[in-house]
Formats: sequence, structure tokens, C-alpha cells
Amino acid sequence: MNAGELRSKYIEFFKSKGHAQIQGRSLLPDNDPTVLFTTAGMHPLVPYLLGEEHPAGKRLTDYQKCIRTGDIEAVGDSSHLTFFEMLGNWSLGDYFKEEAIGMSFEFLTSPAWLGIPLEKLGVTVFEGEEGVPRDEESAAVWKKLGIPESRIRFRPREDNWWGPAGSTGPCGPDSEMFYDFGKEACGPDCGPGCPCGKWLEIWNDVFMQFNKNAEGVYEPLNRKCVDTGMGIERTVTILTGKESVYETEIFAPIIGAILKASGGGSYGVHEDRDRSIRIIADHVRSAVFILGDPKGVSPSNVGAGYVLRRLIRRAVRHGYKLGIEGAFLSVVAEAVIAEFSGAYPELAENKAFVLEELEKEGLKFLETLQKGEHEAEKLLPNLLKDPRKIMSGRLAFKLYDTYGFPIELTEELAAENGMKVNREEFDEAYRKHQELSRSQSGQAFKGGLGDQGEMAVKYHTATHLLHKALRMVLGDHVAQKGSNITAERMRFDFSHPAPMTEDEVATVQAIVNEQIGKDLPVSMEVMSLDEAKAAGAIALFGEKYENQVKVYTIGRSPVDFFSKEVCGGPHVEHTGPMGKFRIQKEQSSSAGVRRIRAVLE
Ligand code: ALA
Repeated sequence: MNAGELRSKYIEFFKSKGHAQIQGRSLLPDNDPTVLFTTAGMHPLVPYLLGEEHPAGKRLTDYQKCIRTGDIEAVGDSSHLTFFEMLGNWSLGDYFKEEAIGMSFEFLTSPAWLGIPLEKLGVTVFEGEEGVPRDEESAAVWKKLGIPESRIRFRPREDNWWGPAGSTGPCGPDSEMFYDFGKEACGPDCGPGCPCGKWLEIWNDVFMQFNKNAEGVYEPLNRKCVDTGMGIERTVTILTGKESVYETEIFAPIIGAILKASGGGSYGVHEDRDRSIRIIADHVRSAVFILGDPKGVSPSNVGAGYVLRRLIRRAVRHGYKLGIEGAFLSVVAEAVIAEFSGAYPELAENKAFVLEELEKEGLKFLETLQKGEHEAEKLLPNLLKDPRKIMSGRLAFKLYDTYGFPIELTEELAAENGMKVNREEFDEAYRKHQELSRSQSGQAFKGGLGDQGEMAVKYHTATHLLHKALRMVLGDHVAQKGSNITAERMRFDFSHPAPMTEDEVATVQAIVNEQIGKDLPVSMEVMSLDEAKAAGAIALFGEKYENQVKVYTIGRSPVDFFSKEVCGGPHVEHTGPMGKFRIQKEQSSSAGVRRIRAVLE
């Protein structure tokens, strides 16, 4: 059975049990600042699990794309994934434990559905704690259905409690279903839930009974709900008699594309090579889904964009390790898009954007990498002489500072050579560097954008906010005519035919402060000037630009932003720490050009 068949069977089964199929949602959650990505099928359903009526009814089912990045460093082994698909069914105040477990059991074991032999299954249930009783009820249901007592394990909160998905929201005890690979038990206590490799969790029935609120208090829900999640990749693995998700049909075309890009060879021969292949396969799949989402983000230095950047960069590094020259991400991405567009049409719709962003970020990083890795490798023979096998944090910092080599990758490179990076020393060097740029803010700057002192950087971001605010208040005829920044103040010249009124000055100042107060992230992308204009970026008229320009966006996402401007940078990462913006003076500069002097306090 492949992923497509499993998706159809699951939905068909739950429809036959009175569930309405609903659409899976975006990977970038709506209105939830507590997480970067949708991490489970229940995520988009939080308001309904908390009591709102769902228009489709009380019994729902769907398949949902999910990203979990908590274990991103562990990807490379045979089981970890950052992207996965979850099948789910929900009861919103309708059925509870007995019926939920009954349906899970039927779908898993009935020959009409998955037909998994009873003796291959084991389950866990919640052992209870103060305020929440031991889940004898679920255990009894499993037993009645035919699961022997020896394969029903009671486990504590660490294992059998689910949620909330972010820091607040619905949660409760759960009952998890495991597949027994048939390996030797690792000891007398080995049973469902044991992490020794004998048992694989494939499905989880959560009995939602509480809402964890912002104060960390568990409030009982007015109506109890059921939330279940079955992992598609894992379930396909066991149904097809494989041991690793990467051996399934799901990954076959993706790994095939990687092998082709690397000039042949096979998977399953050299462990080291296989590890790189798995990392590329997982990371490119995740990156394609993030970029191809209807709310797709671009690589950046903040939030979801930063996770995306790390995924792409790590994939590039492992491609490089495999000896793949040049651009290959789009080849792998095309395989992902071809495979998943049936279930997720947005991938085909956004294909051009996905491929372009991958290539752009990939090539940019490949250059960095070649320089940085070359440098690191020159140093390695000497480093390896250290009997403690520790790479100094100062060196790691140099790789970061000079070549933009992320610390996570330096650590990985070190680990591959049996070394560790002195992370404390790196953190210390990083902190000193930050302080140094801060202390420079005490000095005067000559102006222009060559200075990178912290105050100058803040003023620089302030010019973008001011520019946009002026256009909002005075009109789109406002264009920047010049700017000059010192550590103490900024000056901004712009086209406008008349003096500004006091009201206009006050409004502009208030808008800038409002945006600073929102602590908006600032992100940068490289694109052609035409693309920049199409994306709504302000570019300075009459200015000569390179083919590829940097575009700085101040805002929550590439589409939901306050300001977007073509600019060389640098800028702050977040507007929050900029301080309070005050316009000191608005005056004439020359015919048709006004000048604003302003400070950040
Ligand atoms: N929300 C539950 C999980 O992700 C079903 O395991």
C-alpha cells in the first residue's frame, strides 16, 4: 500500500462512520504566535476543540501536512523526519474513549481495511496522576477487543499525555498504538512504548479534556473531544514490511533524484553516504512544502524563514559532501512536486516560485560553503592533533563571522571528524562581538551606509519605516532624495511640495512608533529588480542597481508586511529594540524637497 491508498482508505473508513472530510490547512498556522508551523492535524482545529461549533459537524476527518523541527539535528538516522503527513479523525463533543478506540481497532485490524494481524499490535494508556485518574477505561476497551494484557502498558505523562501543540490549548491523556517489528525484547520490561527499536508508534488517540491556559493552569473543557493522529510515513513503512520510512515508496522517487544528481550509485551501501541522502531527501521535501504552501515564506533570518534557510543550507552541504557540483535542489524538488501534487495541488501551482527560491538560496550558500569548508579543511589536520578533539570556539566564530558558516554546520562538520566545538567559547565570542558593535554606537559616524555600528543600523531601519509612513500620510509621490545617519540622529530628504502640518508630523511619528512597538521581524531576500517591484518593493528612482538586488521586508511575512524596500542593508533583525522615534524638525531642503531630522531615544 502506498501513501495515496492509505490516505483514501482512512478517509473512506471514517466517512463510513459518519465523519465529514475537511480540507487540511496551511503549514503556517493562522493566528497562532506560539508556534512557527502546523505540528499536528489538530492544530487548525484548536478553536473547535475548545468549544466552537464546526460548520461541518461533530465528526471530522482529514489529512494534514505537518512540520516538527524539534529534532532537526537528529534527521539523518533511519526514522526522523521534519515533514510528515498526519491522518486524523475528531469528535467534537460526540463519541469518546470506547467508540474512538473501537474505530481505531477496526481500521487497523479488519481485513477490509488495513488487516494488521492482532499479534503485531500493542498499546499504551495513561497511568494517571493527581487530578487525572489512571485510564482503566481505555485499557478495558482494548482488552475487550482482544489485545492481551501483556501488550497493554500504563505509562506516565511523559509518554501518554498529548498537547498542547503550542504553549497553550487543548490537551489530555492519550492511548498510543504500536507495531511490533518482531525483534527480540530488549529485557523483561520491554513492551509497547519501549524505545529499543522493537516497537513503532503509528497512531495516537488523544482524549482532550483540558485547556492549558496562559497561566499554565489546566481548565477542564466543557465538552470532551477526541483527537487522533496516524503518521502516514510510519504506517506505510509497516504495511509494506519495511523497517525505515526512507525505504518506502514515499521516498523512492526522491532518493532516486538525489542519486541521479550525484551521478549514480545506490542507496543502502555506505552508511555515511546514506545519511547524507536521507538528510537531503527529508530537508528538500520539507523546504518544498514550506515554499509551496499557499502562505509560503522565503528563506530569511527570522522565524519560519530561518528554519527554511537551515533546511536548505543543510541539504546543500550534504549534496556537496556527496560530491554534487552545482545546482541540484531543483531536480530533487521536482521529484517531490511530481509525487505530492495530487494530494497537495498547491505544490504544482507554486512550482516556479519553489524552484527559483531553492536555487537562489542554494547557490548563494554553496559559495559560502565552498569558501568556509575549504578554510575549515585546511585547518583540520592541525586541529585533529588536539588529543581532546575540541575545536576552539574562536575558530568556529571566525568561520561564522568571515564565511557566514552557521555554528550548527560547524558542529556537524566537527562531529564527522570525531571532534566537538567548544560551544561556550563560541557563545562568548559571539556575545563580545555583539557588545563591540554596541559600544561603537557611542562614537560618531561619518554617515552613509558603510558603518555597521548598532545605532546606525537602527537608524537605517528607521529610514525605511519613516519612508513608508510618509507615503501613507502624504501620498505615493513621496520619494527618498537622500539620507544621512550618525550615531546620534538621522536626516531624511524626500520629495513633497509643501511644508508638513503639525498633524501630519505627529501622525507619521505615531505610525513609525506603532511599527517599532509591534516588534516586527526584518528579513532579506535577493531577487531581480523586476521581481522586487512585482513584490511591491520601493526602489529609489534613478538609482543604478545590480541585476540581483537585496530586498528588505519589515513585517510578519512576505505578504503581510509594513515596508519592503530595495536596499543594501544592514538592518536590525527586529524592530522592537529600536527605541522611541521622535521627529525633531521638518524643514525645507531645496525646491520641492523637504528634510526631516529625527532621533531614536
Ligand atoms: N495530536 C495528536 C498527535 O499529534 C494526535 O499525536
